[in-house]
Amino acid sequence: MLIDIIAGARPNFMKVAPIIHQIKKRQDEGGTLQYRLVHTGQHYDKKMSGSFFEQLNIPEPDVNLESGSGTQAEQTAKIMVRYEELLLREPCDLTLVVGDVTSTMACSIAAKKLNIKVAHVEAGIRSFDLTMPEEINRMVTDSITDFFFTTSETANKNLYKSGVSKEQVYFVGNTMIDTLRTNENRLQKPEFWDQLGLQEKKYLVMTMHRPANVDEEAKLKSFMETIITHSGEFPIVFPIHPRTAKVFEKLGLNSDRLKLVDPLGYLEFNYLVKRALAVVTDSGGITEETTVMGVPCMTLRDNTERPETCEIGTNELIGTDIRAIPPAMEKLLSGNWKKGSIPELWDGKTAERIVAILEQL
Ligand code: UD1
Repeated sequence: MLIDIIAGARPNFMKVAPIIHQIKKRQDEGGTLQYRLVHTGQHYDKKMSGSFFEQLNIPEPDVNLESGSGTQAEQTAKIMVRYEELLLREPCDLTLVVGDVTSTMACSIAAKKLNIKVAHVEAGIRSFDLTMPEEINRMVTDSITDFFFTTSETANKNLYKSGVSKEQVYFVGNTMIDTLRTNENRLQKPEFWDQLGLQEKKYLVMTMHRPANVDEEAKLKSFMETIITHSGEFPIVFPIHPRTAKVFEKLGLNSDRLKLVDPLGYLEFNYLVKRALAVVTDSGGITEETTVMGVPCMTLRDNTERPETCEIGTNELIGTDIRAIPPAMEKLLSGNWKKGSIPELWDGKTAERIVAILEQL
């Protein structure tokens, strides 16, 4: 059986890495699954893509569709056309997609229309916020998926409610956490650590890249000013996504405590997160990693598709009203942030479960 493994954008790479490593391990043991790694080219910068392949020992993609940037529709269309061409030339038996980026949805549609079965890793999570492109990607992908690999009971329930049958749902855990477990002893100190004089638990890490938060200059500026004003004396290290960087240049923000750095590799970023006093973010995946590392996390969004990071983990939904930021910072700085625990099956063995199931299909 030939499985296409689709990876397109930064948050995909840590999810496919353990699945590929497990398939290769099984091949060495005599397993018969074959895979073809397809990079859609949605992310193409070294810092957004190449460094993850190197650091996570992901083999070179077998195919690169080189779709590049564009509007949502342009990107979707380019990926669909190019992936369909590949499938018509050299079909596979199953297309495995991960997460919720544009590449996830585009490749699922192209495959399914050619009657190729689709497996979705991280299926069933929902923010119920249709202003997020990722929510539409999740809904569309799950509406045509054949095999659903899920990270939580909430995801299972969302799928059952939408009419998916129990036989199609495999609750396997979280492949991002496989990657974290595999790499937690080889995290790397970023070059700027000493230059900035960073000390453990004495700085904050910040990430922001959602269109709703960063595309409007005034909004991004008020977020930043509020966070800077209410975060005590701590430096704020902000690895800045290209989308955010474009807007940031126009803000004219000046603070000695704000340390803007380029997007980091996986090993450097998680070194930084593990030792941070807290993380302030609008990402979804990072809230899973902070939960597992027990690092306080403030999420600047009004909803989350990962409620377990709040109910079980260290994450708190602060929202997008800046008035909620000062009391949250106060709670953090006075040492009163909640302690969390780790959700079920986030144990580093998810890829083993997924590949064992794929072998039986
Ligand atoms: C995408 C995902 C988002 C994920 C994020 C992580 C979708 C809908 N969104 O958003 O869920 O959290 O990746 O990074 O798939 N750009 C570069 N270099 C690159 C890639 C992009 O400079 O390698 C710039 C381009 O100007 C591009 C912009 O970033 O227009 C946005 O890229 P895009 O792939 O459209 O979405 P992200 O915001 O990265």
